[in-house]
Amino acid sequence: MDGIDTLKARYLAAISAAYDEASIEEVRLAALGKKGEISLKMRDLGQMDPAQRQVAGAMLNLLKDEIDAALRAKKMALGDAALDERLRAEWLDVTLPARPRPRGTIHPVSQVMEELTAIFADMGFAVAEGPQVESDWYNFDALNIPPEHPARQEHDTFFMHRAPGDTRPPHVLRTHTSPVQIRALMAQGAPIRVIAPGRVYRMDMDQTHTPMFHQVEGLAIDRTISMANLKWVLEEFCRAYFEVDKVELRFRASHFPFTEPSAEVDIRYSNVGGQLRIGEGDNWMEILGSGMVHPKVLKAAGVDPDQWQGFAFGMGIDRIAMLKYGIPDLRAFFEADLRWLRHYGFSALDVPDLAGGLSG
Ligand code: PHE
Repeated sequence: MDGIDTLKARYLAAISAAYDEASIEEVRLAALGKKGEISLKMRDLGQMDPAQRQVAGAMLNLLKDEIDAALRAKKMALGDAALDERLRAEWLDVTLPARPRPRGTIHPVSQVMEELTAIFADMGFAVAEGPQVESDWYNFDALNIPPEHPARQEHDTFFMHRAPGDTRPPHVLRTHTSPVQIRALMAQGAPIRVIAPGRVYRMDMDQTHTPMFHQVEGLAIDRTISMANLKWVLEEFCRAYFEVDKVELRFRASHFPFTEPSAEVDIRYSNVGGQLRIGEGDNWMEILGSGMVHPKVLKAAGVDPDQWQGFAFGMGIDRIAMLKYGIPDLRAFFEADLRWLRHYGFSALDVPDLAGGLSG
């Protein structure tokens, strides 16, 4: 049997050699566990005579306490070392950006949709949506464009396929977002203030036309809404959107089947060396169509035109994106060219809002 001192030296050495929680636990079990060396010796005390037991018992207890204390101290030291190690390894430079700069960018059309949603929301307009494959009735009839109306040809409509023998008028790819005003009116009734941004389709392709493009429709119906309200809303919108103090709009009498009276709206701008400036100069650019919603349209949507009236407008989103961000060719919008997107795209972290600045 090893003497107490030998035992003590051996276990203290083992403790100091332990390098992690598991090896400490191994030493503890070997010494003080149920079948540990020191525990067994304590059990042997029972067979000794009383005088011997007193001396040996005291020494063993002392040894047990010492080993126990050494184990605890080592455990704590290892814990501290582990913590130090973690603190060293998991060190973080809090001055680094929280995320790596995202590689993707927000497309100018999405950016402009966010911008105009923020502006119109501030004026109390909700966002309405509708399907891109639209029925003939919503896209034309309800908007006072009957089948024989020339506007149907002007819109260069894409027609959907019908099963052979099906004589109903084919669905169309919506040629404007105006059908959404019908849907919104039918769903909500008057009073109402909505904008409807989205994709529209017409068979057309050149530097300023693509077969798919984007429009935002605006609709405000109440008891006494007039052209004056329309003018204010559009001017307010243009000031906020183009981020200039002064804008000048020109209302030109026009014709749309769904509004009476109707006006096309031009904005004053200058073009000096390819630099477009809104609100100054001698040039005018058409940016939207508008007017007072035709009584027949209100009636088709189930709204009593003797009680309610209001304005609608439709604006090309791509067009105003090109104007604001100096993008020369519309076709590039839809070519998914990464170099173009990196140049004209916006950071996903700059969400447009009126207080924080629209275009970041
Ligand atoms: N829907 C028209 C177009 O696409 C635009 C418009 C909307 C005009 C609402 C007047 C009122 O040409």
